[in-house]
Amino acid sequence: MFYSPVITNAAEAAKSDRLHLFKYVEDPDQDKLDTFVKHGGYAAWRKVLDGMKPDEVIAEVKTSGPRGRGGAGFPTGMKWGFIPKDSPKPRYLCCNADESEPGTCKDRVLMERDPHGVIEGMAIASYAIGCHLMFIYIRGEFFFCAQQIEAAMKEAYAKGYLGKNIFGSGYDLEMIVHTGGGAYICGEETALLNSIEGHRGMSRIRPPFPAIEGLYACPTIVNNVESLASVPHIINRGGEWYKTLGTEKSCGSKIFSLSGHVKRPGNYEVELGFSLKKLIYDEAYGGGILGDKKLKGVIPGGSSTPFLLPDMIDVNLDYESLVEKGSMLGSGAVIVFHEDTCIVWVIKKLIHFYRHESCGKCTPCREGTGWLEKIINRIEAGQGKPGDLEKIDDICNNIMGRTICPLGDAAVMPIQSSLKLFRDEWQYHIEHGKCMVKSDFSFG
Ligand SMILES: Cc1cc2nc3c(=O)[nH]c(=O)nc-3n(C[C@H](O)[C@H](O)[C@H](O)COP(=O)(O)O)c2cc1C
Ligand code: SF4
Repeated sequence: MFYSPVITNAAEAAKSDRLHLFKYVEDPDQDKLDTFVKHGGYAAWRKVLDGMKPDEVIAEVKTSGPRGRGGAGFPTGMKWGFIPKDSPKPRYLCCNADESEPGTCKDRVLMERDPHGVIEGMAIASYAIGCHLMFIYIRGEFFFCAQQIEAAMKEAYAKGYLGKNIFGSGYDLEMIVHTGGGAYICGEETALLNSIEGHRGMSRIRPPFPAIEGLYACPTIVNNVESLASVPHIINRGGEWYKTLGTEKSCGSKIFSLSGHVKRPGNYEVELGFSLKKLIYDEAYGGGILGDKKLKGVIPGGSSTPFLLPDMIDVNLDYESLVEKGSMLGSGAVIVFHEDTCIVWVIKKLIHFYRHESCGKCTPCREGTGWLEKIINRIEAGQGKPGDLEKIDDICNNIMGRTICPLGDAAVMPIQSSLKLFRDEWQYHIEHGKCMVKSDFSFG
């Protein structure tokens, strides 16, 4: 096996009655259908086909109330309910496995180690929306994930879990594994649909939303890997049970990808509402700051979300609490920076990424990210000028909320928050032509 050697809290999940996504991810045979079934896998799929009506499945998921784990946090059951009931067109389900947001590496673990869990979730979602052909769009660099999903899919077909007349129910379901070319924008749901159709990965203007007119202009649901992997557990144990996990408004468990200057970077499944401070410092999770240095800042939800300062990390990891602190849960990628990090350098790396990944369809993002990169590179190289920060802020304001897809907003949110929270550092760079911190980026 070539699993990514990432730390998980599978041992904790195995003992828990509440954590479920990571229960078996350290079992080297969990990717085999027999082992998956021995651990209760495909029971939900059988239950659904054994007599649940599609509307009942949607109702159960609505009751459980999970919000999509791909970043936007849209309620999953409500999204499925948007598929028009009277449309004569075929319906499609696309599992979004593009996972390219810097810091995010949770879907990779699920696909590598529990591929049948992902397929089972996809199958149940497909049944709920009346789809007979489902796709999984896998990030191009995730070669091993694609191999694992494809092997699991073949096993599922061979043993009658996919294909024609599944378990004699009369329901047919086919599956296609589609790999991307390594473009972040293809994780944006409409660019993903374009890419599957063979077009350039560029976002579409909405409306129409994919649920009405998505893949091949047919009603389509796009859901994240983790969102779909949660579905069999909701069906097995019921929406009411799932609702008891997490907080009242942010229910369920969630995998957080913890990276940066922590002693134990890894993927940790916790209930929503878990303490960010505990995730970073507790021995069972992050284990504290690398080199026992001081914490400088945290990006809590993937590189597209605003920073938190050390005195803001006493916060629960749920959608509402992070918004109250001025940030977002996003994709659940917690990136930690210690005291020797140059924030201008961090932003330089991020804007390079977003400029490179902009699909170029709309002017504020295409031009603005390029202008931002030029100015920020100049400041970082010690050639900042008076007025640069105001110019950066002005460009950000002209991108924010004025683009076709949220990549533009994603590019500017960390920049604007760094200007607000670390302004003295930006100013020092401009006035002194160098950084005010020691600037040690080593993670060793
Ligand atoms: C630039 C960009 C990249 C995205 N990348 C991903 C991704 O890799 N995986 C993902 O599930 N969602 C990604 N999203 C969010 C998707 O557009 C969409 O909201 C999500 O797949 C819906 O699934 P969910 O409701 O289960 O969260 C991205 C959005 C943007 C704007
Ligand atoms: S915001 Fe950027 S990535 Fe999104 S459509 Fe516009 S140019 Fe493309």
